[in-house]
Amino acid sequence: MSEPEEFSQKIEEALRNPRNLGEMEGADAVGTIGSVDCGDMLRMWVKFREEGGKRVIDRATFQTFGCETAIAVASVATELIAGKTPEEALKMDSRELSAPLGPLPPVKIHCAQLVEGALRSALAPDSAPAKSEPLAPTLLESFQGSDAKPKQIRLEPQK
Ligand code: FES
Repeated sequence: MSEPEEFSQKIEEALRNPRNLGEMEGADAVGTIGSVDCGDMLRMWVKFREEGGKRVIDRATFQTFGCETAIAVASVATELIAGKTPEEALKMDSRELSAPLGPLPPVKIHCAQLVEGALRSALAPDSAPAKSEPLAPTLLESFQGSDAKPKQIRLEPQK
């Protein structure tokens, strides 16, 4: 099987049963990112737990107005970061977050960077939603232009 065929098959498999798709009520942190390259957006919610005296990621979920690759990468990435400390998760770049899918075609690298950006946004110190505030606006509200403007990422070549 050629590399593009193998990639397509892995994307199809991930899309058949996407993991951690959807908004998370009671999340400890939320991050939204928009891509200046394709105009797509991705939001990630994170819940923490204490384990061995450390704060680790209990689980993460996502929503996106993104392509199939973004959905597939977010699906595998949210599985990969579970159980990691925020510091460990922040060390993972888009290539590591998408590793279970194999090497991404160059035109799809920014889709994985969208996932990395949303994770970084969620784990930023100021990302935790205040307890007294309602849950962050939905991705649709962000897209329609609420005050909660998403951050944007810029495509940079991987090293
Ligand atoms: S083309 Fe926009 S996220 Fe993939």
